[in-house]
Amino acid sequence: MLLHYGKMLATSQMGGEILLAEDTLVDQQNNRHLPTKQTARPLIILGYGYTGRHLLQLTLQQETSALATSRNPAQQLTAVSPPQRLEFDLARPETWEHLPTGADLVWCFPATPLSTVQRWAETQRSRCNRLVVLSSTSAYESADDSTDYPPPWIDESAPIDQTKPRVQGEEYLRNELGAILLRVAGIYGLGRNPLDWIRRGRVGPSRKYVNLIHGEDLAAICLAALERGQPGEAYNVSDGTPRTWVEICVTAQQRWGVTTATTKEDPSPGKRISNTKLRVQLGYNLKHPDLYEALQALT
Ligand SMILES: NC(=O)c1ccc[n+]([C@@H]2O[C@H](COP(=O)([O-])OP(=O)(O)OC[C@H]3O[C@@H](n4cnc5c(N)ncnc54)[C@H](OP(=O)(O)O)[C@@H]3O)[C@@H](O)[C@H]2O)c1
Repeated sequence: MLLHYGKMLATSQMGGEILLAEDTLVDQQNNRHLPTKQTARPLIILGYGYTGRHLLQLTLQQETSALATSRNPAQQLTAVSPPQRLEFDLARPETWEHLPTGADLVWCFPATPLSTVQRWAETQRSRCNRLVVLSSTSAYESADDSTDYPPPWIDESAPIDQTKPRVQGEEYLRNELGAILLRVAGIYGLGRNPLDWIRRGRVGPSRKYVNLIHGEDLAAICLAALERGQPGEAYNVSDGTPRTWVEICVTAQQRWGVTTATTKEDPSPGKRISNTKLRVQLGYNLKHPDLYEALQALT
């Protein structure tokens, strides 16, 4: 294993501030110490994809330390400093022990299949500290055959679709390991621009409601959930303003001259996701509450 955690008192100069780091990451190969702030537990980003990249960036800004995993670190973690890279593949149990003990984990890929998730949970029960799992608002049962329009608001007490493999995996982790679930709306931001989705015809001017969250907010919410989330609880993650695609398409045309490449009708009502629990119980204030301001910043 590349890294272990040493209990020691080390001093480090970061941003002019001397940090006394009691928990210090030790890179055995390079004989280097990676300081973490004294109050912070080691953080592992399980799955360094779109959200993982935002999360690592945020920890760097906050001068805390995190490790990032990939199934193929040599190819996928080139932007991560070598001591922060870990190989981890849920499908290959021999990589599970690469995760250092006592760390907080943010799980950034679908928790499936259930049998593997169960085996992994057994090995981690006494190893991991807090666990945040990224779920999806697609976990909620769909009301596509309902005549209600606009669709009702969905909070965390709404029924979930237990036939979906990822929902089974997430619920297992919530019940057995006290995982904090984040039921995440559509993720957008730099490199994932809804205006491009409209241009390319991936979406069109339908009456369907969509819920979105900026990647920067999602990353900060992962850290807020690690700090303040209740184990075993689920939190919806969305900017709190469901919009219809027709409204977004009209605004895209008026403000940015973006025209849609499709006229395909999607008659489903979509969902309206409430973020009250996120704001009130997790105490999170959105950095990007307004989609159109965020899109303006991306153009
Ligand atoms: N995109 C959306 O709009 C959206 C909306 C709601 C919820 N979500 C959920 O939110 C989470 C994060 O989304 P994202 O878009 O940031 O995901 P992403 O870009 O696909 O990143 C996830 C990373 O996890 C790693 N991974 C995948 N399967 C794995 C496995 N079996 N074992 C170990 N690592 C694995 C992959 O990295 P390597 O290939 O390097 O291993 C992948 O890049 C996902 O669970 C996603 O389903 C996404």
